[in-house]
Amino acid sequence: MDKPTMFEPYQAAADIDVVPAYFPIPGLGIVPVNSFVLKAAQPVLVDTGLVPLSDEFMEKLSSVIDPVDLRWLWLTHTDQDHIGSLWRILEAAPKLRIITTYLGVGKMSLYAPLPMDRIYLLNPGQSIDVGDRILTAVKPPSYDAPETTGFYDPKTSAFFSADCLGALMSEPVENVADMDSENLRKGMVKWATVDAPWLHIVDGTLFAQSLDNIRELSPKHILSAHLPAACDMTEELLGYLETVPTTQPFVGPDQKALEAMLKVMTGA
Ligand SMILES: [Fe+2]
Ligand SMILES: [Fe+2]
Repeated sequence: MDKPTMFEPYQAAADIDVVPAYFPIPGLGIVPVNSFVLKAAQPVLVDTGLVPLSDEFMEKLSSVIDPVDLRWLWLTHTDQDHIGSLWRILEAAPKLRIITTYLGVGKMSLYAPLPMDRIYLLNPGQSIDVGDRILTAVKPPSYDAPETTGFYDPKTSAFFSADCLGALMSEPVENVADMDSENLRKGMVKWATVDAPWLHIVDGTLFAQSLDNIRELSPKHILSAHLPAACDMTEELLGYLETVPTTQPFVGPDQKALEAMLKVMTGA
């Protein structure tokens, strides 16, 4: 895969659809970029995909729900791989409000301010009623942006983990269980070292506590923006993440390595 590509939506649970894409990272493989539709009484879209795939994103989204029916956009954070169709969604879903944090609003204002009457501020630990269930905002154990909030849905027993628990992969799969476990472990560790380099300087005990907070929720489904849907694998995935602080920090290719890569890519 040499360019960002959208795939067909699939169901992760009875009322959760995944709208998946993959983004290639030269030298590292591919990373999933998922959005989700939680078909609650008040339907919730979780993130809005990649900027360059916005047309396809809107098309795939429309195949799982009429955007006009969306009531909430849970914006996990404001990175470019999560806000790709944000403005089109605001237009297509006039009843929709964006669940984010004060910092999320602030960071968006550096780019294009969000309309304040379409905002709903929710901090980690706080909850919101979406008609047939109450979603609770959760700070994931790892993240790359300070405004990040994931959430827990008790009705489906799903933890929407934002960037946390993602993985670099070699090929697309629909279900994490289809991946070789050693490749999964390596891909998850590599992703976490890239996405959250601060994991190498955290207090191991405090980090373990933040993982225990997720274990206490005991989610059946882990729905990361950067991992195919994972069912009944929570302990395995948290176990891989737990090892990250003691692993090798990621160092990106330098100029010499870049020139070597370009030589291979261009055949020069
Ligand atoms: Fe991010
Ligand atoms: Fe991300």
